[in-house]
Amino acid sequence: MGQEILKVQGLQKSFGGLRAIDSLDFIVAGQQIKSIIGPNGAGKTTLFNLITGILPPTGGTFEFRGRPLNGLKAHEIARLGISRTFQNLELFGNMTALENVMVGRHTRTLAGIFEAGLRLPGMRREEREIREKAMEELRFLGLENKALMRATSLPLGEQKLLEIARALATQPELLLLDEPAAGLNMRETEKLAETILKIRQREITVMLVEHDMSLVMDISDEVVVLNYGKKIAEGPPRDIQRNREVIAAYLGEEADA
Ligand SMILES: Nc1ncnc2c1ncn2[C@@H]1O[C@H](COP(=O)(O)OP(=O)(O)OP(=O)(O)O)[C@@H](O)[C@H]1O
Ligand SMILES: [Mg+2]
Repeated sequence: MGQEILKVQGLQKSFGGLRAIDSLDFIVAGQQIKSIIGPNGAGKTTLFNLITGILPPTGGTFEFRGRPLNGLKAHEIARLGISRTFQNLELFGNMTALENVMVGRHTRTLAGIFEAGLRLPGMRREEREIREKAMEELRFLGLENKALMRATSLPLGEQKLLEIARALATQPELLLLDEPAAGLNMRETEKLAETILKIRQREITVMLVEHDMSLVMDISDEVVVLNYGKKIAEGPPRDIQRNREVIAAYLGEEADA
């Protein structure tokens, strides 16, 4: 396992009177699969929104490879090598699967800055390279035969994989996956598990938010458990499964339902 890649210290996020993230500390080591679990509303997506610069924290700090992320804009954080997928799919419906992945790739290139408006010599070649890299990512996720289909015409499971392809096309060092298994059947979930392990083999660190406990327990190196924005447990899966406070938090959720 690699060195520390992400360090979160004293992180706070309030929405009015609600503390969505409360004094949160943790470290993610490089090339680890670190899962964030917790009942609905625990603050998992908020944490991803803070790390990726979509929301500003109310307090606390985070560092990526020793570099403070506070105050950086979302696109600056993306360029440093942090990428994500969304709990609610955010694909471009009027584009093909391939074009959706190419959009991810554009954040990495000079031509991307010009947003396809102004064309300079050399861009055609750059465009071809972007297309080839995007195809590689589609192949990595087994979607090469869907490249020219409209993204939103694909079944949900494939749309979720497509979002992962797009995030990978930015060449992240840290990939945040927000409920990638939601809506997938058992076979698709097993394939997703293999895919996440293959992503780690590419030396990409993965943070996984997921409600599918067997997926989390099978593939995670470490798990952080949030409840009402607070960390109530952290450790390897086998310790988390036996943790009384964790079990109580989940039973509490069932009792409420
Ligand atoms: N932009 C926002 N404005 C106000 N409140 C918010 C906002 N985003 C999240 N919240 C609140 O913060 C809390 C944490 O929400 P969050 O979406 O992070 O939970 P979650 O752990 O991802 O839940 P789920 O498992 O249901 O996706 C919830 O009470 C939610 O209503
Ligand atoms: Mg969420």
